[in-house]
Amino acid sequence: MLKILCIIPGLCFLLQVQAQVAKPADSKMNSFIDALMKKMTLEEKIGQLNLPGSGDIVTGQAGNSDIARKIEQGKVGGLFNIKSIAKIKEVQRLAVEKSRLKIPLLFGMDVIHGYETVFPIPLALSCSWDMSLIERSARIAATEASADGINWTFSPMVDICHDARWGRIAEGSGEDPYLGAQVARAMVKGYQGDDLSRNNTIMSCVKHYALYGAAESGREYNTTDMSHQRMYNDYFPPYKAAVEAGVGSVMASFNEVDGLPATANKWLMTDVLRKQWGFKGFVVTDYTGITEMVEHGIGDSQQVAIKALTAGIDMDMVSESFLTRIVPSLHEGKLRIQDVDDACRRILVAKYKLGLFDDPYKYCDENRARTEVFTAANRKEARNIAAQSFVLLKNQDNILPLKKSGTIALIGPLADNKENMPGTWSVAADFSKATSLLTGLKDVVGDKAKILVAKGSNLDADSVFEERAGMFGKSLHWDSRPSKVILQEALDIANQSDVIIAALGESAEMSGECSSRTSIEIPKVQKDLLKALVKTGKPVVLVLFTGRPLALKWEDGHVPAMLNVWFGGSEAGYAIADVIFGAVNPSGKLTTTFPQNIGQVPLFYNHKNTGRPLGEGKWFEKFKSEYLDVSNEPVYPFGYGLSYSRFSYSDISLSATSLHANQALKASVTVTNTGTVEGKEVVQLYIRDLVASVTRPVKELKGFQKISLKAGESKTVSFNITTSDLKFYNYDLKYDWEPGKFQVMIGGNSRDVKTGTVNWLK
Ligand code: BGC
Repeated sequence: MLKILCIIPGLCFLLQVQAQVAKPADSKMNSFIDALMKKMTLEEKIGQLNLPGSGDIVTGQAGNSDIARKIEQGKVGGLFNIKSIAKIKEVQRLAVEKSRLKIPLLFGMDVIHGYETVFPIPLALSCSWDMSLIERSARIAATEASADGINWTFSPMVDICHDARWGRIAEGSGEDPYLGAQVARAMVKGYQGDDLSRNNTIMSCVKHYALYGAAESGREYNTTDMSHQRMYNDYFPPYKAAVEAGVGSVMASFNEVDGLPATANKWLMTDVLRKQWGFKGFVVTDYTGITEMVEHGIGDSQQVAIKALTAGIDMDMVSESFLTRIVPSLHEGKLRIQDVDDACRRILVAKYKLGLFDDPYKYCDENRARTEVFTAANRKEARNIAAQSFVLLKNQDNILPLKKSGTIALIGPLADNKENMPGTWSVAADFSKATSLLTGLKDVVGDKAKILVAKGSNLDADSVFEERAGMFGKSLHWDSRPSKVILQEALDIANQSDVIIAALGESAEMSGECSSRTSIEIPKVQKDLLKALVKTGKPVVLVLFTGRPLALKWEDGHVPAMLNVWFGGSEAGYAIADVIFGAVNPSGKLTTTFPQNIGQVPLFYNHKNTGRPLGEGKWFEKFKSEYLDVSNEPVYPFGYGLSYSRFSYSDISLSATSLHANQALKASVTVTNTGTVEGKEVVQLYIRDLVASVTRPVKELKGFQKISLKAGESKTVSFNITTSDLKFYNYDLKYDWEPGKFQVMIGGNSRDVKTGTVNWLK
């Protein structure tokens, strides 16, 4: 550190801090950007804040488009969701050859769960509880995307969600803030690596800040409203974790927070994000997020643009409000030039860090595009990762794994369909290259078993609904024959078979953006099919496709085996076959609670106790917190998932029953594989703070370890717990722990745990 002679103590501290942080690379970057900004006109600075929709970019014609003109005039900072190096090169050339200052463009894309090699949807990925695997999926996605011209991804989506009705629950990591934070870190690391200036790392954008997953009634884009305590404790941790992991950008959410749309919320964008968490990157709105604030009712188009910029938004996605409204607002004295300069600088810094000023075509290497996208190695990894994300919900009499013999009936609208396998938000996927379940099964069984296939039913009895649920080229190809005929055809093959695999559930676009549902059951026509299949008396394996938790009470009671496969990506067909025939032992665990019915929603494991909790194992006691018609229990709790192995847990052992603040507690259990095959188990640690200055959840996930056990093998799994694991945001939003009694719980899911109690003294 520099030695600084200083007579004013406060100033001295400041100088020391600056001397520490201003690395030579930073000062080189700062001088470069200072010099560039000196040359920029106001219009050119505002241009950097503009991220227009790129819908009309067609190879060979980009030069004549409206966007092309704007690029040449320096009115565009970046473009997004353009696929192909040829197109990207063409528009980048306009920026760096035709615009006055030759500032390169950013190229963003929704690379959400893979690029051309598609991994499972994020909700599924989280069910692997395997952070290195999740990081690897993001690493491969970044390698492929960067080989194809992309340098910025709008991922990870880390919105905590308690509501299965909300379609975008598919895009996040479920209901838990601790797990969500771990996934956020892993994804940012996977995309950005250690060095953003390499040509195979891309800038990440954590979204949607904030609370988008708490939309009232689960209705898309709806209002959110919650206490600050809940925000800080339950919803903010994943965004904060992404910031701590060095995420380069943040996307504002559509919803309001505290009565202000997030896009205009200065407390959120500046006080929390920048001042409390120290975020240094730039903030982009979501699609038309600025103009939508006119509909929200907080001002006209000029007022909302001013509110967004002064709240801390740097880049305007699609609405072009900054482009048109900043200049008049400056003239009218309603904005400060400093706000424009700050935003412009942040975007230029991102471009600098990506190395675009050194080489604007850094991500446009045709050779890489040819050799690094959808490779055999990446597909193999995707197949393996998909199998790790599946959750075995039920396996009565060890029906699974199936033997590769006899005749298998594969029945259902998702039995032989490629387009739906990648799942929602697979912008770069080539559906023709995805593997259907039928292809996967045939490939894995070879000629050892005969597979008969029939559709059995459409996705839904209503063709209009089915069309809505098959958007973006993901049709399930509506069968216009009478439903009885379609069903009978399936029953005919079912009756000729030894076992039935029913491929049912949601289509890929029944979850995702703007796909909220008021029913979370398998559509009735498919459920009728399932009932008819069960009635044949043949063993039935339900391979369940879904992007959200479903209400499966009937299925749990009647279908002998159920494997939840979510949407597993381009290689899902093979991965499902790997699990069904036992090449892979399933080990996924749910990261959202599966309720009994829609009326219980929102249902989540880390809820509060209330003053009138229902006694354990009870259903109805008058004047307790409950329902008249169903118990409070879910069908499958958070953390639940079976294996072809069986795991037994010893009682919990605690290293102490009373500790002081500076001491650590070791909590252990011995887990034994009592089954006959090797398997993996996610051992989960939960803590309950029994008495505190504010009410605390009945349990909170505080750690987990995924272990592998051979048949008959035992392992002792220990967690080291310190008071930092006990911290929470109290009434005054101070983050600290409070001495007192704590329950420590370890188990294979959030319901079935071994419990001990400890007294933590000051
Ligand atoms: C979504 C974002 C997405 C953006 C750009 C919006 O509709 O909410 O998640 O990144 O579009 O495609």
